Amino acid sequence: MFSLKNKVAVVTGGGSGVGLATVKRFIEAGAKVVLADIADQQALADELGCMFVKVDVSKEDQVQHLFEMTRETLGKIDICVNNAGIIVPGEMLEEATMDEYLRVYNINFGGVLYGLKHAPVHMNDGGSIINTASLAGKIGFPGYGAYCSTKGGVIQLTRVAALELADRNIRVNCVCPSTIDTPMAHAEGNELELMLKDYVWPLGRLCQAEEVAAINHFLASDDCSYLTGTAIDLDGGYKAGTGMNAIGKLTEGLM
Ligand SMILES: NC(=O)c1ccc[n+]([C@@H]2O[C@H](COP(=O)([O-])OP(=O)(O)OC[C@H]3O[C@@H](n4cnc5c(N)ncnc54)[C@H](O)[C@@H]3O)[C@@H](O)[C@H]2O)c1
Repeated sequence: MFSLKNKVAVVTGGGSGVGLATVKRFIEAGAKVVLADIADQQALADELGCMFVKVDVSKEDQVQHLFEMTRETLGKIDICVNNAGIIVPGEMLEEATMDEYLRVYNINFGGVLYGLKHAPVHMNDGGSIINTASLAGKIGFPGYGAYCSTKGGVIQLTRVAALELADRNIRVNCVCPSTIDTPMAHAEGNELELMLKDYVWPLGRLCQAEEVAAINHFLASDDCSYLTGTAIDLDGGYKAGTGMNAIGKLTEGLM
């Protein structure tokens, strides 16, 4: 069950956080994995026993090359995780510049668009594509206009790709996690979010990268054969409503 034995998988942003946890999980499940990242992670890939390709996902020719290299070296691709992304916190709309928005767009949206355009050319029919979107693609967060809009775009691209690739039985889904305990969440500018983490999420804690990797594993496997075009909430209950922990905090001293 959920075996990925001999499947060929590419994971962008595979050198850290969600990508790294996914690479590890796929290897454990038997896949032949390509860890793709803008940072040089050759040593890490050697340690894990997978292939490394250096790629900047905002550059179309580099993304195309990533899939060509993978096919030449490991064979046709079964699983593609378009995961690389960045966040630029703390910029209200009144301070927004198009240059800064485009910088985020080129990576978060462009990286997924190029993945959806070039991976299928080198994929087996019946494969699985997984995009890392975010809760921020479904609800707004003040100060995160660029990030939220790119992730909303990723959700819509996922739906379009699922429809366009259905005739090849290539399933396309995305995951929408709330704050994940990775270097991205601990970057400067996210202090308030981390301070409130015990109250914001009904489960009372941050999401762990391994919990996203577990969903990715399911989505990648043949056991998940009828799920396509979805944007899966992985938010500790956030969209279900206000948690008891938040209610307790808000009413502290009132009763
Ligand atoms: N951390 C969170 O709170 C959170 C929440 C929801 C969604 N996400 C999404 O999850 C994904 C992974 O984020 P993470 O939390 O693991 O972050 P992370 O910073 O730990 O890892 C991101 C990885 O992407 C790589 N990367 C960055 N720009 C790249 C580029 N142009 N080309 C190739 N690789 C590049 C980095 O080198 C790094 O290895 C992102 O798409 C992010 O938007 C994160």
